[in-house]
Amino acid sequence: MTEIVYLNGEFMPLENARIPVLDRGFIFGDGVYEVIPVYSRHPFRLPEHLARFERSHQAIRIQNPSGDADWTKLVQELVARNAGDDQSIYLQVTRGVAKRDHAFPKDVKPTVFGMSSPLSTPALEAVEGGVHAITAIDYRWLKCDVKSTSLLGNCLLRQTAADAGAVEVVMFRDGFLTEGSSSNVFVVKNGVILATPKNNLVLPGITYDVVVELAQANGLRLEVRPITEAEVRSADEIWVTSSTKEVLAVSTLDEKAVGNGKPGAVFRRMHPLYQDFKRAVMRQAA
Ligand code: PDD
Repeated sequence: MTEIVYLNGEFMPLENARIPVLDRGFIFGDGVYEVIPVYSRHPFRLPEHLARFERSHQAIRIQNPSGDADWTKLVQELVARNAGDDQSIYLQVTRGVAKRDHAFPKDVKPTVFGMSSPLSTPALEAVEGGVHAITAIDYRWLKCDVKSTSLLGNCLLRQTAADAGAVEVVMFRDGFLTEGSSSNVFVVKNGVILATPKNNLVLPGITYDVVVELAQANGLRLEVRPITEAEVRSADEIWVTSSTKEVLAVSTLDEKAVGNGKPGAVFRRMHPLYQDFKRAVMRQAA
């Protein structure tokens, strides 16, 4: 089945989708996006993703071209037109097409793009064995809470992980944990889950929220507070979370074992809680 994408009001095969080279998404990375996991053809936490999408639009001063009801319809249509029960829906809005000038053009129509990819959740091996991560100084900008398509910093940082054979890069700014290149990071120390506060230095992850809610609902100890680099380096457990990674344990950080080098006890509680929650939500939606 050909991949069907959405571009500016029309559905079409991926290979037919074209944008003008003066699109500010292409020229400046001037846009915002969302990635929404779809399980058994049901989008997971869609209202929350759309609320964050709206906040991203506001943050970069693009008028959101659709309301939540229309976005929901678009997502459902993309899911229906593409193969596979589990998908990853990508939505992107850029400021539109205009003569190259840094300041915003007047009266341009945003470019709206949507696509679906197969959702590849982590392999059992990664869930059971954990994954490698490295560390880096977080040199991105100071608006990391905006889900912007300007991702050069994230891409450069992720490549350092790829070069080292690692899955993710855990970042520090001024001696404190921020996040991964495309995930949030949790730490466990002495049975307590530590979560970074939501501020301008991290993306407010939808998966992060689910993990915090599950910890609270199931009596796991959790503290939301700044986490020092030293705490990360001496953690019993480190987790990365995202819509595509779900919850994954980090087994080595900079080639040093985290805890005993295997996913820890708290992860082994959280992972099934996350899977059960996901399945329960999907059953309700069905
Ligand atoms: N990335 N932090 C960053 C920098 C991210 O790019 C992401 C998600 C997250 C986790 O957010 P969520 O739980 O809402 O997926 C945190 C997506 C998956 C991506 O860019 O592909």
